[in-house]
Amino acid sequence: MTKTRFMTLARHIIEGKKKHPEATGELSKLLSDLSLAAKIISLEVNKAGLSNILGFTGSSNIHGEQVKKLDMFAHDILVKAMDHGGHFCALVSEEKENIIHIPAKHKLGKYILFFDPLDGSSNIEVNNSIGTIFSIYKRLTSDGKPGIMEDCLQQGIKQIAAGYVLYGSSTILVYTTGESVHGFTLDPLFGEFLLSHDNIRIPKKAQIYSINEGNYLHWEDGLKMYINYLKEEDKETGRPYSLRYVGSMVADLHRTLLYGGIFMYPSDNRYPDGKLRLMYECNPMAMIVEAAGGKAINGRKRIMEVQPEKLHERSPLYIGSKYDVELVEEFMKGNSRK
Ligand code: AHG
Ligand code: MN
Ligand code: MN
Repeated sequence: MTKTRFMTLARHIIEGKKKHPEATGELSKLLSDLSLAAKIISLEVNKAGLSNILGFTGSSNIHGEQVKKLDMFAHDILVKAMDHGGHFCALVSEEKENIIHIPAKHKLGKYILFFDPLDGSSNIEVNNSIGTIFSIYKRLTSDGKPGIMEDCLQQGIKQIAAGYVLYGSSTILVYTTGESVHGFTLDPLFGEFLLSHDNIRIPKKAQIYSINEGNYLHWEDGLKMYINYLKEEDKETGRPYSLRYVGSMVADLHRTLLYGGIFMYPSDNRYPDGKLRLMYECNPMAMIVEAAGGKAINGRKRIMEVQPEKLHERSPLYIGSKYDVELVEEFMKGNSRK
């Protein structure tokens, strides 16, 4: 007889509350609302090739990028699932420029939710993995009023929970409340997220790097030297590294979490802040990777210590195994290994 217990996401959060007195039943309910949204998005993603939901809406989002229909579908589902539970005083989505306020008819809560409803949406048409990213903060201003900018613009170290859902060969939800990281795979028959990856620890070092190397010419010299170093032959340090790049951050980060290595989206001479968004891409991933024993920096400092100034602020990101992130940091400081 196997000793394995069925552990649902809801039960896991409730049983974990001894360790997190702060994360009482409320966090459990809130994550369960999020997992419902994830199940609906997962279903829609799976049938995307069959329905006319594929393709562009024809409009651009606030970053000037074309919005796919599925991005907006995922955004709408998340708002619908999260705006009436009484947990939040404000929501912030990649797809909306301003804070999304909770309708007056619903109770206001003490948390703020940031989300990237669909990450890696350029991969929808080619059936590659995409994801949803979320990040939760506690409000700073007093209860009972709508959340304001001050509540939203908090450093990543203030996150009380973060996670992502990867819609891949199976759908997996990974979350942390800061101490440990756990993954739950969606059973498509029962519609239940079941614990499949308990206490994920990222390897201290690995031989995989992940970056859009097509931008090489535009990088700063330290980064160019680091990437060239990874491609040299040296048995002792396990070089050359392998390159893996899906172009969906959730997919690239999930692999990095499980296999180790480094994922980078750097700044370059055209985009001084890189491409990824601090509040709903970099910070939640940094919280997860740090809780799993890894590191996340913007090239100069710890991602989660950056004080945000705008909801949709961009940031360069170097994230993954501790050894690998510390090595790129050295190269960027001008201390190469030669
Ligand atoms: P989104 O689909 O939410 O706009 O995010 C796309 C991001 C991220 O998923 C990925 O790591 C990155 O864009 C890839 O960018 P490049 O195509 O420039 O490599
Ligand atoms: Mn994204
Ligand atoms: Mn997105």
